[in-house]
Amino acid sequence: MIKKYVYGSPVKTGATVMEIAAEGGDPAVFAVERGERYSFSCALGEKDRVYGLGEQVRGINKRGWKYEGWNTDDPIITEGRTALYASHNFIVVCGARTFGVFFDCAGRVQFDIGYTRRDALSVTTEDADVYLIEGEDINAIIHEFRTLIGRSYIPPRWAFGYGQSRWGYQSEEDIMEVVEGYANSDLPLDMIYLDIDYMERFKDFTVDRTRFPDLKGLAARLKARGIRLVPIIDAAVKAEPGYSVFEEGVARGYFCKDAAGDPFIVGVWPGDSALPDVLNEDARRWFGEQYRVLLDSGIEGFWNDMNEPTIFYSRRRLEHTIDNASSWQGKSLALGDYNRLIASFTGLQNNPLDYKEFYHETEQGRIVHERVHNLYGYYMTRSAAEYFEEYAPEKRFLLFSRSSYIGMHRYGGVWTGDNASWWSHILLNLKMLPSLNMCGFLYCGADLGGFGGDTTEELLLRWLALGVFTPLMRNHATNGSRLQECYRFTDMQAFRNVLGVRYTILPYLYSEFVRCALRGEMLFRPLAFVYDDERSAHVEDQLLFGDSVMIAPVYEENAMGRYVYLPEEMKLIRMKGGSYTEEILSCGDHFIEVPVDEVVFFLRPGKVMPIAAPADCVERMDGALRWLQFIQQPTAYELCEDDGISPIRGEECLRRVVVEPQ
Ligand code: GLC
Repeated sequence: MIKKYVYGSPVKTGATVMEIAAEGGDPAVFAVERGERYSFSCALGEKDRVYGLGEQVRGINKRGWKYEGWNTDDPIITEGRTALYASHNFIVVCGARTFGVFFDCAGRVQFDIGYTRRDALSVTTEDADVYLIEGEDINAIIHEFRTLIGRSYIPPRWAFGYGQSRWGYQSEEDIMEVVEGYANSDLPLDMIYLDIDYMERFKDFTVDRTRFPDLKGLAARLKARGIRLVPIIDAAVKAEPGYSVFEEGVARGYFCKDAAGDPFIVGVWPGDSALPDVLNEDARRWFGEQYRVLLDSGIEGFWNDMNEPTIFYSRRRLEHTIDNASSWQGKSLALGDYNRLIASFTGLQNNPLDYKEFYHETEQGRIVHERVHNLYGYYMTRSAAEYFEEYAPEKRFLLFSRSSYIGMHRYGGVWTGDNASWWSHILLNLKMLPSLNMCGFLYCGADLGGFGGDTTEELLLRWLALGVFTPLMRNHATNGSRLQECYRFTDMQAFRNVLGVRYTILPYLYSEFVRCALRGEMLFRPLAFVYDDERSAHVEDQLLFGDSVMIAPVYEENAMGRYVYLPEEMKLIRMKGGSYTEEILSCGDHFIEVPVDEVVFFLRPGKVMPIAAPADCVERMDGALRWLQFIQQPTAYELCEDDGISPIRGEECLRRVVVEPQ
């Protein structure tokens, strides 16, 4: 049951798809205080657990820390952070009383989940729609919430293949080197990503013709080999006279404006740039149409970046800071002055004051950015998705974004931003998955191998052994870091084994994904959502993956394996490429040896799993299925059978197959 409560005059965010009449009064579970902000608080019982918040730091159980919904580009992702690139303000309190609550507020939202006091939860928001969701158990509540927010995005089937990316591929030659590197090492590849260097001086919707003389030809040649080129699009548009996207946007008034009505100029990769006002319907449509030049070149997928939106500096604050700094010229600086001088420059990036200084022209009137900050990535991505639908209604496109808000899950997926080549980030990747799924984001993944810093062969292999299960499976790294394409390392057979598992399990991954999207279910669930024993309630490093499988990846360096808790008897599957061994293990704790060239997972009793023979790309898989099984009687499975490209409108693509025990 969903109840809606309205506080103040919240901006309509587009998070939900159902009309619900507002209740009077306050949700019974909270004490509500009205001040400058609204505050919602309740007591937490000794054993209460709190789930949700999608892309966030720390545990699957969010209790014990403070979090913030405020989309932020800051690539140092440590435990001390409170806000990442996305705001997914949905939580479920699970315990003596179990309820879900969604704070639909596009401005800053703060969660204190047993941080100030272990026994208290408090949330503060600006004007907000608050949805209280009650149901029989946590799964029912999440299902109800997913109905409220609408069906999750389903990418084309090829987008479930493995992709290689790197910030730094400069030219067609660089791209071909990667393609051949994979082919020569007999490693699969479905996607190769273009980062900002394909553009002409980082200008959106341009292609540097000296380095990419024939993008259309390149895209076609690669597609013939089953590989898609997936370019990046950044939020901000270079402010440069003569650049048609900029000039047209200015002429039509489609950029965010300052108080005087002039485009608000910010610095990002291209230098001075303007932010398309994607919250304005006409501007959004116009920005979406810009993708056409790339679509016309045969491009079928994009990643949208810098859409928190990131501001390295605002023109105005930068000028002011430079003036201020020059006033110190020739003077002696006391340490405090020196620190202030440095801080005036480092504080330019994503300065909260800048977000108060530009405006959106929306159907709901002129709104200062700060109030709708968390919607920017959502609406940028929506602009692209809406245009793709118009451009080729018979086709699905790959689309994912760095920044997001609930509601965007209907239009695209997410990657979780600039992580690092740290072991702890494998575990963080795992922990975010169920939380993202709760909030509707099913197509998601992290930069495998780590974005920042130098990876190692072992780290990459272990991370890929988790990545084989994540819908978005992309290896991506920053400029200047160690090269981390799989073929750069030593043990090619190990990479073949691990990447091969992805293709082997693809029929299962795809069927589970589509079913979960169509029915509002979670692809990744914490053990606590399925098993009600005390141990399962506390497991933070294992997940259910679909209905049939439990995963428990290794996330420590030099480990021989790891301890795994089995809440029931399960079948251990050790997989290398297309081959595997099976072993039945009893309920309880086991030390499982896991060599780096192997992927292990666990099949639940009474369950089956369709698998296929690996191939070098999704399009070249032969379609023949085998079944992993741990059953005693004929067991039904819903297999997704479609062309992998046409939009999926309903459950017709799911076929019930009965598997006989063997
Ligand atoms: C941002 C993105 C990263 C990308 C880089 C250059 O940091 O998060 O993935 O490689 O920008 O475009």
